[in-house]
Order: sequence, then C-alpha cells, then structure tokens
Amino acid sequence: MGVPPSPPPQGRPVEGNLVRRLPKLLCSLLLVASGAPDTRSVTPLGQIVPAPASVRPGGEPYVISARTVIRVPGQSREARKARTAAEQLAGVLRPSTGYRLPVTTRGGRDGIVLKLGGDRGLGAEGYRLDSSRASVTIIAPKAAGLFYGLQTLRQLLPASVEKAERQPGPWKVAGGTITDEPRFAYRGAMLDVSRHFFTVEQVKRYIDQMTLYKINTLHLHLSDDQGWRIAVDSWPRLATYGGSTQVGGGPGGYYTKDDYREILRYAADRQLEVVPEIDMPGHTNAALASYAELNCNGVAPPLYTGTDVGFSSLCVPKDVTYDFIDDVVRELAELTPGRYLHIGGDEAHSTSHEDYVAFMDKAQAVVGKYGKTVVGWHQLTGAKPVKGAVAQYWGTAGTEQEVVDAAKAGTKLVLSPANRIYLDMKYNENTPLGLSWAGYVEVRQSYDWDPGAYIKDTPSSAILGVEGPLWSETLSTSDHIEFMAFPRLPGVAELGWAPPSAHDWESYRTRLAAQGPRWEALGIDYYRSPQVPWPGK
Ligand code: ACM
Repeated sequence: MGVPPSPPPQGRPVEGNLVRRLPKLLCSLLLVASGAPDTRSVTPLGQIVPAPASVRPGGEPYVISARTVIRVPGQSREARKARTAAEQLAGVLRPSTGYRLPVTTRGGRDGIVLKLGGDRGLGAEGYRLDSSRASVTIIAPKAAGLFYGLQTLRQLLPASVEKAERQPGPWKVAGGTITDEPRFAYRGAMLDVSRHFFTVEQVKRYIDQMTLYKINTLHLHLSDDQGWRIAVDSWPRLATYGGSTQVGGGPGGYYTKDDYREILRYAADRQLEVVPEIDMPGHTNAALASYAELNCNGVAPPLYTGTDVGFSSLCVPKDVTYDFIDDVVRELAELTPGRYLHIGGDEAHSTSHEDYVAFMDKAQAVVGKYGKTVVGWHQLTGAKPVKGAVAQYWGTAGTEQEVVDAAKAGTKLVLSPANRIYLDMKYNENTPLGLSWAGYVEVRQSYDWDPGAYIKDTPSSAILGVEGPLWSETLSTSDHIEFMAFPRLPGVAELGWAPPSAHDWESYRTRLAAQGPRWEALGIDYYRSPQVPWPGK
C-alpha cells in the first residue's frame, strides 16, 4: 500500500539547480536505502479520476497540519451546503490524521478555504482549486462545485487518509491550480433494488462510493417483476405483498416513505439527484400479483422469484390501470425533489405495439401532470416521446433509427450501452457474478468509447450524459455491488466528466491504478483487472 506511483508531472517548474537540490536528493537516497517510507512523495495534481479539465502544477505543496482550519465563510443556503460538504471531508480526515480540523465560518487566507464566487463561466458544477504553502483554496459559483473540489482534494491526499485509524502522514497536496468542470450534466449510476432488495444503509454506502468520482445522479430501479420496493399509501399491498420476496425467494423488502426520504436527504447532501423508476407496462409482475384488478383477466399471478423478462404487462385497456398510475406517480412525485421520473418502458414483450404506444402516451401525460420530466428506456423512442422527455439508451450498436430520429427531434439521450457500461456484465468468463448477454466487459472495453460520438448521426449536444446501470439478478450484498462497480464505475464517471481531450486509456489506467489503495483503505471490494497496473502487483 502507500502512495501510488507518480508519473513525472508536466510543466512543473524546476526548483533550483542540482547543487541546491543535492542534500534533498541524498536524503531521499538514504531513505530508500534504509527501507523507510518515502514520505515526501505527493500525488501530482492531475493524477485523479475523473481527469480534470485543466491542470497547472507549480509551487510548493500545502501540508495539512494540526493547525489546519477549514474555512467556509457566508450564511447563504449555498454556503450552508458547502459547510455540510466541508464537515463530510473533515469526517474523513480527522480519524486518519488525528487533527481537529475545525470547520469555521470565519474568513481568512490560510488552511482549507471554500469560497463561493469566482468565474461564473465555471457553471453549476465547476470549481477552481489553488494549492500553495499557505492554503488550499477552492472557489466555485455553487456549492456543488465546492463539493467536487473537495472530492479532488481528497484524491490528492495519500490513500491512507481514508483509513479509520490514525496514520503517519504527512498530508501533502501538490502545489498548483486545477480548473475543472464537467463535460456532461448527467453522470449517473443506477441500482436495481428490485431483483434483490438493498437496505437504506447499503444504498448510502454505494452513494458514498459514487460521489468520490463526481457522479451526480442516482437512478433507483424501484419496481420490477420480482419486487415492488417503495411504499405507496393508496395501494399499500404493492410494498407489503409485492415487496415481500426477491430473486431466489429471499424476504425482499421495501422502503417506507421515511426510509426513502432518508435516502433523498443523504443523496442531496452529496449533490446527487435521485431518479426514481417505476417500470411499466412490462416488468410489473409484483404489482399484478398484489392487485388482481390490474390484470386483464382479473386474476392475480403468483409472486415471481426467477430471472426471466418480458412476461408481464399492465392491462392497457382497463381504466383502473390509469387510476393506479396516477396514484403511484402522484405519490412518488410528491416525495421527489428532483426533476425526473423514470417510467421504464423496456422489454414490454407482452404488450402489443399499439397498446404500448397508447400506454406510453397516457403514462407520460401523468408524469407531466405532476410536474416531472419523463425518462424512459430507449424503447420509448418507438412510441411518441413527449417534448422534453429523456431516453436512456441501453442497446449495443448505437444505430437504432428510432433513437436517431428521436434525438433529431429533440429527445435528449442518456447513454448506457450495455456492452460498455452495464456494470452487471461479467468482466470475463470466470467472473463469478453478473450476466453476459451483452458480452464480457473488461475495464478497457468499458472506458474506451466516446459518448459524444456514439449514436449514429447524432451530435454530442443531444447527449445529456452517461449512466452505469447495475442490475441485481445475481447481486445481493454490498461486496457484490462493489466487485461489479469497481473499477468500471469510475470509468463511467470519467466519460461523463472529463473533456474529450483527456480521454486516453494509457493515462486512465495509470490514474485508475492509483485508486486501488484508496479502495483498500475504504474496504471496497474490487476486481483486480489485469489491464490495470495496480501498485504492488
Ligand atoms: C434493460 O436492461 N432491460 C433496460
């Protein structure tokens, strides 16, 4: 373990001549010869994931010490949000450094300084980080930018800072300036809590992991054939009965509204927007099993614990179907502070095309009625996407004409190509978890494509962003989540954040390798891909 290998930083000013540096060089040679850890090394400024937009290394490093104060002046709502982020960082740093690291509203130029303001051109999520002997100062127009600047700062510190017990340090941040902002507005991760249920604590753990990489959207797949996972007051059996099992027949579970609010609160404190998904008209066996009247024949099917798809459908001609959707969408929209409500629409193999189009017209109207923006899987483009709707692409070719046409007509796309960033695909034939219907997806395969040039004849401007879905047919623990998401999720984050000019496999695999010790310190289980030069391997 220890500090990751550092390729030589570019553009670093030469500090003095060789004669002046000789004592230092001798000292480091002695250290190496004695086997003592080389505690002077420092992570180069650009050595992070996702790659920052612009890096100008130079000057002396900042060293976090027992006297370091975290300053977040201001009383505005944004300043309060920034203080929440600062407290989170302090919570990471205090146990390992052993320092008090007080968070204060008092201004000043020393320490770790978070300031609202600066260049408005940095946008809603951008930031600038200046590191020097006196301070690390992060400036951003919005609290989100300050939050992302803090994630950058965290990665610039040695991996041992993530540990829960006191570590030796020193805690150096390389000198220089990072100016950074995301390429895409939507950088998502999806968790399927239906095939296997994951508790609030398990969801929070995954949230902590995704926010390290500046992911800003958590899509929760809340319903499917195997389980309904969110309490709906007007249709209580959806959760109490429809949520009572999962793949393999385990006890399942569901979120009460308070549980769900707790997830939302935790996510909002980490700059994450939650996109809830109720999949329809297919993938609805849990609902159909809970209420007989939702079935065209009036007979409730049994609960389902297998892994087939495409066998269930809401009853498109029945009026009660739309009472049901109205209630579910209304209650979910009331809970949801975010802009989006995902209505699925994939694999409706038991719904005729005519019924599908009629159904999606009505379902989209209900989402609009309750003030939310429709998201659907890209099959929605084979119906009539409403103005402003977002389609989530999960194909493998990027050539489907209805998707291309919809994008031309203004439908924005979130890209989740299954043979690239479906995080539940096996890495290779020996991967013990996951599926392989879209092929094996090694780390390079997952990273080495350009979201801006992926859909045929479609400009980058039609792409809202990227999302890495994690389907849970074979996954039932946090270790399972982590083994499939790491190391591919950071690649999704980099595709969403870094400028195209920084997209480079050789650079990425080196920066990714440096994350390994951090995951070990955090207890994150991950796949040791042979494509990545992990330190010490
Ligand atoms: C999907 O994988 N059925 C969206």
